Amino acid sequence: MKGIQRTEFFDREKEKEEILHILRQEPREINFIYGPINSGKTTLIQKLIDDLPKDKYVVFYINLRGKLIKEYGGFVRVLFKVKRKEISEKVIEKGEKLAKKALVLAGRYLSGIPIEKDMLDGFLETKSSEDVFEFLEEYFLKISETKIPILIIDELQVIGDLEINGKVIYKLFNFFIRLTKELHICHVFALSSDSLFIERVYNEAILKDRCRYLLIDNFDEETTKKFLKKHNFSEEEQENVYNNTGGKPAHLLRIIDAKNRGGDVITETEAMLESRKKR
Ligand SMILES: Nc1ncnc2c1ncn2[C@@H]1O[C@H](COP(=O)(O)OP(=O)(O)OP(=O)(O)O)[C@@H](O)[C@H]1O
Ligand SMILES: [Mg+2]
Repeated sequence: MKGIQRTEFFDREKEKEEILHILRQEPREINFIYGPINSGKTTLIQKLIDDLPKDKYVVFYINLRGKLIKEYGGFVRVLFKVKRKEISEKVIEKGEKLAKKALVLAGRYLSGIPIEKDMLDGFLETKSSEDVFEFLEEYFLKISETKIPILIIDELQVIGDLEINGKVIYKLFNFFIRLTKELHICHVFALSSDSLFIERVYNEAILKDRCRYLLIDNFDEETTKKFLKKHNFSEEEQENVYNNTGGKPAHLLRIIDAKNRGGDVITETEAMLESRKKR
């Protein structure tokens, strides 16, 4: 975006390599990406999506943050995106192939599984999650004939307690196991910062040995200092920031921003520490 100062994505080389290594193999396990709040899980995944070759992978990224999902309909609606038929038909009149191409290439990922409206209505009417998972299995099988699908669900804990004839999360995990361990057709990543949820999932027998856990932690001391150094922080400032606020990227960005606006780093850091203590 023009006029907006953007902080460049920093480091995460080790974590990136770990995920790329997973993507180079055939899908075998469900990948759980976890770590403290604001550690940079979503940002890392988005960065990876940006860098993936689009002719090889098809990425589905579904973010459940802020979604209120209380029943079956809500669950189905977040999984799917109705294909905008009307729009594509109009454009096709103008220049069929061009339009189609543009539609395919638009965006870096799909924010839901594209389906026709009547199909979605059908799912909503029958209220059977079995139908949905059956459809999805077919869908991913089809895609995997030409490309490698990657399914990413962010903020998975949102549906942790949802019940539709039993816990949805179990059905979803069974489906993920089907896609990975059994069929090997689709990479699955689940992101969450809710440690209670992760622990609960971890303790579930169905997931034993079918999950891989990847920690995206706050930056360690060395990385924090490198990050700050890149933004012209003196050694004393680096030391002070790390000792007082730690290596949470979101906090570091705030201090970098303060410095860029001409603020004093030490004062800013102490103010942040103070306001955190109060909370
Ligand atoms: N590697 C990085 N380099 C630069 N900035 C980063 C990096 N990782 C995260 N950030 C910044 O830190 C902030 C928090 O990141 P993000 O939202 O990805 O964290 P999260 O772990 O997904 O948080 P939540 O637990 O709320 O889901 C964002 O503003 C992001 O731009
Ligand atoms: Mg996130």
